[in-house]
Amino acid sequence: MKPIKVGLLGLGTVGTGVVRIVEGNQEDLSSQVGSPIVIEKIAVKNTEKARNINVDSDKLTEDPWEVIRHPDIDVIVEVMGGVDQTKEYILEALERGKHIVTANKDLMALYGSEILAKAAEKRCDVYYEASVAGGIPIIRTLIEGFSSDRITKIMGIVNGTTNYILTKMSQEGVSYEEVLKEAQELGYAEADPTSDVEGLDAARKMAILATLGFHTNVELRDVSVSGISSVTKEDISYARRLGYEMKLLGIAERQDDQITISVQPTMVKKKHPIASVNGVFNAVYVHGEAVGETMFYGAGAGEMPTATSVVADLVSVIRNVKLGVSGLKAIAPYKEKRLISDEE
Ligand code: NDP
Ligand code: HSE
Repeated sequence: MKPIKVGLLGLGTVGTGVVRIVEGNQEDLSSQVGSPIVIEKIAVKNTEKARNINVDSDKLTEDPWEVIRHPDIDVIVEVMGGVDQTKEYILEALERGKHIVTANKDLMALYGSEILAKAAEKRCDVYYEASVAGGIPIIRTLIEGFSSDRITKIMGIVNGTTNYILTKMSQEGVSYEEVLKEAQELGYAEADPTSDVEGLDAARKMAILATLGFHTNVELRDVSVSGISSVTKEDISYARRLGYEMKLLGIAERQDDQITISVQPTMVKKKHPIASVNGVFNAVYVHGEAVGETMFYGAGAGEMPTATSVVADLVSVIRNVKLGVSGLKAIAPYKEKRLISDEE
């Protein structure tokens, strides 16, 4: 069987997990898609860097264009991060008829509709499950699982780094600086952790979820954001004494056709299930008029949980290619949004 050749952009936390899963589960994956999956070329910033995975040095390049323009590569897996330059790589790959899997929420929150429009024009797939809530398949769920319902609320913890920090500060009394460093070492934090701790990463994820859940064009500027950098150990222990846990909560609500979206540190009653979502775990509640309340829980960041979503997307894309169909999609401005703030 002719192998499916994949180009990888990035071999950091997530990219390493992708290689581990593709190689470690090769037999099972290839039996699911009917072809071996080969990672043909990998772009990194520094080919000389010591890595905690063995890869054939011939596969590494410091030039992402070499991966994008490689004539044998069918699918690009983008796990390198970045926005403007990365968008250029993705658009060029689509122009060349290559399918995309990405974990990049910054890119999808800002340019998702442009990228998906290009994908539709070129009849290519773009899958982005890992961009929100790491190992929880919440994007598929919103696009496919709840397409029949009218979603009225999406609420949850969608940033692993800040939940890890708040949990450790709350349960072990560790200082903010110390635990942030730990989250970086564990590979949970973004290259620039400001976006985690200031709530921007969660805001981007909430913009994606609200767009998908409410079928409208939510943008980053529509989300009111406040992070956890000014939350102190004293705030947390005061909240605990009153019977609350401090969580960075994203809340997107729709009433009639008006929506509000926010990300902010929130005191959650200890008896509420979200109060016991600890460490790097995320949880997303989705309320639909017909389905009622549903909850999704799992690791929101980290090498293997995130790579699980990325490789599952890769499997979907390859299946679609074999069947001659395309799938997923759905960041699209179906209808004009009306924010509560528009009315004020
Ligand atoms: P890392 O910083 O660990 O890895 C980034 C990788 O990309 C590195 O291998 C780096 O090369 C390479 N790279 C960066 N810039 C360039 C460039 N200009 N040219 C070539 N290679 C480049 O990031 P993560 O793996 O943590 O995250 C990757 C993406 O996945 C981001 O978009 C992130 O938001 C997203 N994500 C991350 C999660 C996580 O838990 N970490 C969870 C969900 C999504 P080198 O190794 O040489 O430095
Ligand atoms: N920095 C992100 C987080 C990675 O901590 O949630 C997963 O998107």
